[in-house]
Amino acid sequence: MDIALLKDTAQKMVASGKGILAADESHPTIGKRFAALGIENTEETRRTYRQMFFHSPGIEECISGVILFDETLRQSDDNGTPFPQFMNSKGIIPGIKVDTGAKDLAGHSEEKVTEGLDGLRDRLAEYFELGARFAKWRAVITIGKNIPSDACYMANAHSLARYARLCQEASIVPIVEPEVLMTGDHNIDICDRVTTNALHSTFSQLGEQGVQLEGIVLKPSMIIPGTGSQPVDQKTVASRTVDCLSRTVPDAVPGIAFLSGGQSDEDATGHLNAMNTLGQQPWNLTFSYGRALQATAMKTWAGKPENLSTASAAFMRRARCNAAASLGEWREELEHSTD
Ligand code: 13P
Repeated sequence: MDIALLKDTAQKMVASGKGILAADESHPTIGKRFAALGIENTEETRRTYRQMFFHSPGIEECISGVILFDETLRQSDDNGTPFPQFMNSKGIIPGIKVDTGAKDLAGHSEEKVTEGLDGLRDRLAEYFELGARFAKWRAVITIGKNIPSDACYMANAHSLARYARLCQEASIVPIVEPEVLMTGDHNIDICDRVTTNALHSTFSQLGEQGVQLEGIVLKPSMIIPGTGSQPVDQKTVASRTVDCLSRTVPDAVPGIAFLSGGQSDEDATGHLNAMNTLGQQPWNLTFSYGRALQATAMKTWAGKPENLSTASAAFMRRARCNAAASLGEWREELEHSTD
C-alpha cells in the first residue's frame, strides 16, 4: 500500500473547482438510456459516445477524474491512443467501476447487496497496470415500509469496507458510495435518518477493516425528500445534507463527491452550489455525477455523428456549471455560456 500515492490521488480527485465524471454505466444500463433515444448499443457506439466527453475542449479545467467501465478502460480514441493514456496527458485521473452490481439480498426480498469481492484483488492489480488510480463501488439502500433493515445496512457497509481495503492494498483510491435511493414517498426527515444510519455503519466498518480515511473519497446521496413526496427548497437540501455529513463523516476524509441520483441537471448543480455557500467544511464538497452531467449531451447527440460537437458543448456547460458550484460560485450566466 502506497499511502503517499493514495493521499495524493484522493486530493487530486477532489481538487478545488473540479469534480468527477461518472461514465461507468454497465452495458445494460447504458443500453436502456440509449434505447430511450433510439441509439444502438454496440461497443463502437459506446466508444464514440464516451470519446465525445473525453475529447471535449477544456474538460481538464472542470473534471479531475473519470469513472470508466471495464470495456472503456481497454478502448482507444480515434487516434489509437488508449483512453487512460489520453486522460493522463490531460491531467485527468482514470478510475474504474469494480462492483458487479446490486443483487437481491437473501432473505430480504426488497433489498439489495452489492457484489464483486470475489477475485477483486487480482482485478485491481490488472486495473492498476492499465492505468486506473481510483475505483468505485456503489451500495444501494432502498427506503420503504419497514426497510432498510439492519441486515441491509450491515451487509452493504461490510462489503464497502472490504472493497475499500483491497483497493488501498493495490494503491487505488476507493470511492465509497452508499447511495440512499430517492425513489419512494418518504419525507426529508426519513432520508436524513436512513442516510445517517448508512454513513455510521459504513464508517464503523471502514474502521474495522483498517481503511485509511485520508485515502478515500466518499460519494453519498443528498438529504432530499423521496420523488413521491413534497419537494423542499435548495437551501434546505443543502443545510440538511451538510448537517448530516458533519454528524457522520470524520474530518480525515479529504473530499465528498456527490452522486446526482436522478435529480434534474439544475437541482444537482443548485444543491451543490448552495452547500458550498454555507462556509468552510472539513472536506471539499464536489460532484461525481453521471446523469446530471450526461443526460443533455446524450439527448443532443442522439447517436448522430453531426451532433457530436453540440453534444460536447452541452456537456461542457454542465461541467462548467458544476465546477463553479463546487466553489459556491455558480451564476445564471453560466447556464447560457456558449464556449
Ligand atoms: P448519477 O449521478 O446518475 O446518480 O450516477 C452517479 C454514479 O456513479 C452512480 O453510481
